[in-house]
Amino acid sequence: MDLFRSFMVIMVLCVSLIVKGAGAAGGHGLSYGFYKSTCPQAEKIVKDQVTKIYYIHGNSAISFHRNVFHDCAVTGCDASLLLESTPQNRGEKESERNFGMRNFKYLNVIKAAVDRECPGVVSCADIVVLSGRDGVTMLGGPHFEVKTGRRDTTLHTTDKDADRYLLDADAGVDAFLDNMAKLNINTPQAVALIGSHTVGRVHCVHLVSRLYPTVDITLNATYAEYLKMRCPSPHPDPKAVKYARNDPITPMRFDNNYYKNVMQMKGLLRLDNALYLDPRTKPYVQRMAKDNSYFFQQFVEGMSILTEHNVLTGNKGEIRKHCEWVN
Ligand code: HEM
Ligand SMILES: *[C@@H]1O[C@H](CO)[C@@H](O)[C@H](O)[C@H]1NC(C)=O
Repeated sequence: MDLFRSFMVIMVLCVSLIVKGAGAAGGHGLSYGFYKSTCPQAEKIVKDQVTKIYYIHGNSAISFHRNVFHDCAVTGCDASLLLESTPQNRGEKESERNFGMRNFKYLNVIKAAVDRECPGVVSCADIVVLSGRDGVTMLGGPHFEVKTGRRDTTLHTTDKDADRYLLDADAGVDAFLDNMAKLNINTPQAVALIGSHTVGRVHCVHLVSRLYPTVDITLNATYAEYLKMRCPSPHPDPKAVKYARNDPITPMRFDNNYYKNVMQMKGLLRLDNALYLDPRTKPYVQRMAKDNSYFFQQFVEGMSILTEHNVLTGNKGEIRKHCEWVN
């Protein structure tokens, strides 16, 4: 009996060590289907909401995807991006790097739908990642599984944090690869992630430095004439909704057209064009332009790493009641 008891104790210890070990190796406490016993419908509710919102406002899917990058790259995937400014703090959203970020109100709609089913269980950080993942699928991009179990930060990050971790609109390839390497994302994965610029828009404030007073020589001259029509003033009003589409042919479709455009020097950002001029990234641009499934495969790898960056799990952080405020 005693022998059996000690055997059992040892077994339990072993199992808990294995579980702990697996948790640590598999994304620092995240797991696939983290909510399967506490909120089994969580992923389905998010997906249904993303689908419903997409049919009302298609560009919400683009916003959900960009949210993932802008949340995860800044202090990790902890919903820090969503915090509103307070009298003491300017929030991340106030940073110039987050210019053009939109549709945040829909995340509150998704959070409310999830909380109706299981109040206080699902984090805003997971809602950011799940809605971004489902947004990509709605736009025709790849579907992929993501781990869950992220928790929300209780620290109030600021616009300065966004300035530090996100690059400005004029960044070059060195800064880009460096920024991605700090997230453990390698060159092909990085080239695939920025292929996200196959959807959405760039505002004139971020374009005019390439058009005026003279056209950037790395920009397609014919295309520059079109862009000047979209952005006729060298000093656009930052409040005006004036922009050009990232991919004028299929602006709402998540496909490899970005690379085809870039190979014709039609990237909107300096970096988009620079990727085709730099020997470190050019081969991947060429390969992704030819091979959509290679693009998707590298993209999914990159997203898996990005979405597990610096997460809060276990009893760190909290499950926010409202995504815009610390509890
Ligand atoms: C690290 C280098 C990057 C830079 C410098 C950069 C910069 C920008 C800029 C300036 C815009 C336009 C903002 C505006 O004027 O409205 C933009 C849009 C966008 N970016 Fe990036 N980006 C980068 C990487 C990424 C990555 C890695 C992703 C996704 C994983 C991404 C997703 C998007 C999306 C989806 C949009 C369209 C947003 C919309 O239409 O609402 N970007 N980016
Ligand atoms: C610039 O765009 C034009 C018109 O779309 C295209 O025919 C041409 O090949 C592009 N130029 C370069 C250098 O790729």
